[in-house]
Amino acid sequence: MERRPRRNRASQAIRDLSQETHVTANDLIYPLFLLEGSHKKTEVKSMPGIFRLSIDLMLKEMEECLKLGIKGFDVFPVVEDFHKDKLATKSYDRGFFYLQALQTIKKEFPEALIITDVAMDPYSSDGHDGIVKDGKILNDETLDVLGQMALAQAETGIDMIGPSDMMDGRVGHLRNVLDEAGFSHVGIMAYTAKYASAFYGPFRDALDSAPKFGDKKTYQMNPANRKEALIEAELDYIEGADVLMVKPALSYLDVISDLKANYDLPIAAYNVSGEYAMIKAAGLQGWLDADRVRDEVLLSIKRSGADMILTYFAKEFCSKTRA
Ligand code: PBG
Repeated sequence: MERRPRRNRASQAIRDLSQETHVTANDLIYPLFLLEGSHKKTEVKSMPGIFRLSIDLMLKEMEECLKLGIKGFDVFPVVEDFHKDKLATKSYDRGFFYLQALQTIKKEFPEALIITDVAMDPYSSDGHDGIVKDGKILNDETLDVLGQMALAQAETGIDMIGPSDMMDGRVGHLRNVLDEAGFSHVGIMAYTAKYASAFYGPFRDALDSAPKFGDKKTYQMNPANRKEALIEAELDYIEGADVLMVKPALSYLDVISDLKANYDLPIAAYNVSGEYAMIKAAGLQGWLDADRVRDEVLLSIKRSGADMILTYFAKEFCSKTRA
């Protein structure tokens, strides 16, 4: 036998030296859930170990994460029902706690990459990512709201917006709005291939943002479709996106790999709430070694072509690999 692949697996040393893929803190973005007020911390039931935090506690959390080497954060607001309306007007109210908190965060940690979420659902009484009229999600009218939201977020000093709404034309629209207002330095991480997925369940618990009727299938992609992701990627590329994202990650590794092969922009993957919850739940039951499964999952997402991974595992991964 001339070829014996097992020689390169014979010791830890050769395994380490021949390892093709590595995951480090440099690859990870930590999603955070922001509560209004102060001294508030509530666990997300379906996401053990993940807490909604008020700004004072979130600053502490971010400081710990920065010490662990995590540089990117995606901050989502938990909005009380009485703030919600059909047009998501709180999303661009400069006095609203989310926008105020973003300002504080950037002042405190100018070196961190702060990403914001652009979509109507956390602020919408309909629980949809766009404006609802007669049971339909209006595309072009929604762009106007998203533009106002993005602008208000950019004014806080954040580094990058993350349009997660899946309206057509929104990347180009947001790019124009930002450029015209003097925010050409603010980046866009486009949720390029965002699928209509059941894996978002725990996130909707965290934000209490589930749709009040119907589902999101008229704007989020059909999980059966692979080529369609290339159409979305082409549009986001042309419209000026800086990063292309695939979401969820695990069931869509083929799509991550396609985008990596076809585009020279950095590719992000969102290892979503349900993917986190499954591993945690099985780990708590004693059915899986959750730490090893976590590491294997993150590796697989990186191996498939993701340059960066949004993951609720970011902090624990970095704590454990340091120890
Ligand atoms: C909504 C949004 C969702 C997530 C991020 N932004 C859920 C949805 O589309 O209903 C999901 C993230 C996760 O599950 O971790 N704009």
